[in-house]
Amino acid sequence: MMQNEPVTSPTREHSVLVTSAAGRTGIPTTLQLLEKGYRVRSLVRVEDARAEQLRRAGAEVIVGNLADTRDMREALRGIKRAYFCAPMAHNALHFANVFALAARDAEVEHVVQLGQWLSQEDHPSLYTREIHLMDRIIPAVTGATHTIINVGWFAANYFFVLEPAAQLGVFPMPLGSGLNAPPSNEDIARVIVGSLDRPDLHAGRSYRPTGPSLLSPEEIVDHIAAATGRSIKYRPMSERMILKSVRASGWPAGPQTQFVQYLEEYRRGTFAVGAPSDAVERVAGVEPEDFATVARRYVGQDPVGHPSMAGALRAATQFGRALFTTPIDPLAEERRRDHALIRDGRLSQDSLSWRVSHGMEESRISRLQSPRGCAGEHVAFPMPA
Ligand SMILES: NC(=O)c1ccc[n+]([C@@H]2O[C@H](COP(=O)([O-])OP(=O)(O)OC[C@H]3O[C@@H](n4cnc5c(N)ncnc54)[C@H](OP(=O)(O)O)[C@@H]3O)[C@@H](O)[C@H]2O)c1
Repeated sequence: MMQNEPVTSPTREHSVLVTSAAGRTGIPTTLQLLEKGYRVRSLVRVEDARAEQLRRAGAEVIVGNLADTRDMREALRGIKRAYFCAPMAHNALHFANVFALAARDAEVEHVVQLGQWLSQEDHPSLYTREIHLMDRIIPAVTGATHTIINVGWFAANYFFVLEPAAQLGVFPMPLGSGLNAPPSNEDIARVIVGSLDRPDLHAGRSYRPTGPSLLSPEEIVDHIAAATGRSIKYRPMSERMILKSVRASGWPAGPQTQFVQYLEEYRRGTFAVGAPSDAVERVAGVEPEDFATVARRYVGQDPVGHPSMAGALRAATQFGRALFTTPIDPLAEERRRDHALIRDGRLSQDSLSWRVSHGMEESRISRLQSPRGCAGEHVAFPMPA
């Protein structure tokens, strides 16, 4: 099937493949597809409680490695539609290439892929540049129709610091005064599922799900405070302290190097550009969830969200451990890990092609739409209104 050729009849006799199925978007995507009556094959990395949850809900769960072409061929056997989600990890581009070749051989017809709002060819973040390449490689190699879910900053990210927030009353993320309209994992999944369900409507398009309104860090913290039932103060820590903190929490080094770049984008307001969007309503036919609702659910699901003496002691110990942790030097770490680096990388809003393709420079679009212009991506993947 050629790119942009519509798939007109949703076929539920085939399974839909969900990759990264035990992840934040993979679980709700699997569950919502099952609710719609699809047969779902969920590819997970390990057999654990999440895999069991998916199996109990009715998914065919297979354990496999996204880097292993043999596992991917097995996962794609008989599959016509697939959700591809690269983990926030090293080798993500490798995973995408393995997926693309196996999907081409399996004659997959429609792929929905998780992208990034920041995606741009000269972004300083390696992971973001890799997503930018995936956005183009997957449709080109597979020949399948393709929808990109171009998410900004997930609502779930704020809950990385739920423990100090709920237990010590301090929300320590360096967000500056950046605004965001955070989407829940479940709403992101609604847009993924809608795009998988109706390739005839969504092929060749890019959707950016958001929550219903732009919120300041203080407003976000107030909603988390209400959900935990205690007062919480927004205390933006330094970049050095967040690096100490994520290292002390056991994050792998790769994501640590990228996280600081995403925080800088946040402070610069890049996630406020074009937000809120109507993607959830447009694709899934429902209103996006407001952050107060999302916060109540995420706090309710997480044992660290309930203040207690033992929890406070644990959080204080963790804070002490962070204080005595040596932070990584992101650039030195990237060099040491032999990341593919570029000179003069530009954050999203410093790139004219990003500004054009993300609706900030409408008047300049025609000038940039030369055959060699970067704005061609705007045509291939029009941004939602
Ligand atoms: N967070 C944000 O704000 C944000 C914003 C925009 C875009 N994104 C994009 O979101 C994507 C991540 O989506 P997500 O948050 O839904 O994923 P996630 O929760 O990070 O889940 C990734 C899953 O992939 C699995 N995995 C890791 N390595 C694997 C391997 N070699 N083989 C098989 N499975 C493997 C992990 O397994 P285990 O759980 O067992 O480790 C995990 O379940 C990234 O591409 C990122 O660029 C994120």
